[in-house]
Amino acid sequence: MRVLVVYASAAGSTAGIAEWITGALMARGHEVELRSVEEVTGVADYDAFVIGSAVHDKAWLPAAADFLAQNRRTLCGKPVWLFSVGLPGALRGPLRRWAMLEETDILAELLRDVTPVEHRLFTGVITPSTFGKFGALLFRAMGGRFGDFRDWAEMERWSESIADVLAEQKS
Ligand SMILES: Cc1cc2nc3c(=O)[nH]c(=O)nc-3n(C[C@H](O)[C@H](O)[C@H](O)COP(=O)(O)O)c2cc1C
Repeated sequence: MRVLVVYASAAGSTAGIAEWITGALMARGHEVELRSVEEVTGVADYDAFVIGSAVHDKAWLPAAADFLAQNRRTLCGKPVWLFSVGLPGALRGPLRRWAMLEETDILAELLRDVTPVEHRLFTGVITPSTFGKFGALLFRAMGGRFGDFRDWAEMERWSESIADVLAEQKS
């Protein structure tokens, strides 16, 4: 099975996650190609998809949302995994749980185009420059932290579960 990993990233953390998932699936013997949404020239030759985007204002980046809408017919009937990269993991306690609720809003838009096997909301890299000066102050006041919150152990477990489904479909 040929797997396409597609991503849209504004500042690089989603690209890093997509790259990591690609490596993890390849390490488990799958044929995988990695492309940014801008680089994809066609989807017909692939049997399965892992598609991810950075989250801005509780939604995927427009290029990634457009990619889903434009390819919905091809994606329909093929296994598709989706992931979103936001900031909930940079918050703590109740605020973190509140931030995780955005998954419902993000998914509502995506589900118009695809029925994924699964969707995951990850946290990316958050720096003071992510939100600008005022936004960074507000974020700190809410107890937000800056740093690289990508949880590679979580990616590993998720990639493993994807690889298992792909292996089942192959046999
Ligand atoms: C303009 C802007 C809006 C954002 N809005 C959200 C949001 O609504 N929800 C969220 O979880 N993260 C939000 N973020 C945080 C990003 O999703 C986060 O920085 C992520 O790591 C970006 O991924 P990237 O490095 O691939 O661009 C926003 C960031 C920016 C710059």
